[in-house]
Amino acid sequence: MYVLGIESTAHTFGVGIVDENLNILANVNSTYVPQKGKGIHPREAAIHHSENASNVIKEALSKLNVSIKDIDAIAITLGPGLGPCLRTGATIARFLSLQYEKPLVPVNHAIAHLEIARYTCNEEDPLLVYIAGGNTIITTFVEGRYRIFGETQDIPLGNAVDYFGRMIGVGYPELINVEKLAMKGEKILDLPLVVKGQDVSYSGLITSALKLIKDGYKIEDVALSFIEYAYSMLCETVERAIVYTNKESIVLTGGTSRSIILKDKMEKLAKGQNVRFKVVPAEYAGDNGAMIALTGMLAFKCKVSIDPRKSYVKPMWRIDQVDIPWR
Ligand code: FE2
Repeated sequence: MYVLGIESTAHTFGVGIVDENLNILANVNSTYVPQKGKGIHPREAAIHHSENASNVIKEALSKLNVSIKDIDAIAITLGPGLGPCLRTGATIARFLSLQYEKPLVPVNHAIAHLEIARYTCNEEDPLLVYIAGGNTIITTFVEGRYRIFGETQDIPLGNAVDYFGRMIGVGYPELINVEKLAMKGEKILDLPLVVKGQDVSYSGLITSALKLIKDGYKIEDVALSFIEYAYSMLCETVERAIVYTNKESIVLTGGTSRSIILKDKMEKLAKGQNVRFKVVPAEYAGDNGAMIALTGMLAFKCKVSIDPRKSYVKPMWRIDQVDIPWR
């Protein structure tokens, strides 16, 4: 039995294929790279997706040497994400579902990041820290759903680092380049550390860091300070969450889990709390089709499906709105 999953929430159009034992048989992804110095333009990304969809689907199917007729269900991420990008993927998935008479399985993109991390890290019930350009969520599974134990109140961590990087002109990929610059810094300057209950907020931190650069402070010191404050805010809330939930492990997932400095901080935090620490493998850290197929298979086995005519996209779909029958 095969599930083909389609990812199209932001910059990546991806297709994964997973079998009933959750073996990942294909994971083909095509990523739109914005113009130099710019963020993702939703409509341009959507055009990229529609132009590349057919080749990505064909390449994924060719990995198994099967045709679309051999697929048992189509999984589609309906949100959260950018409207034009979501609609492009959903249109393709609805077409495949209706044309080839395959069930359509709705998948929450954020939950797919959590499930691929649990599966690849071999952790049954961790505290999950999902950090990316579009999300910053501390979560674990409680009574049928993933519950949120901390999130951003404004800009997600990945987006905050990328935006800061673009403003100071470090070039793509901003996360790696901002951290490289930070490693050359020597002094930590005063910046706002905004933790509200279990939530974090990054917009004031960005404004204040950019002001320090305007005021003539060394760019390396500002980068170091920005990174230290941004990551410390998250670590503080993660530490409280692990104590509160009493989980035995912390797992990082999402594109920003590629951060070298944050991994180091989280590892120390986990050690201090005497819990295991794992990070999703790099190939499944960013958006990818495999995670949609994997989560789609978990859902499909529990008979989750949706009428293609009612499969509306949900750009603001939260993880705590989704029932998880496979756990
Ligand atoms: Fe994502």
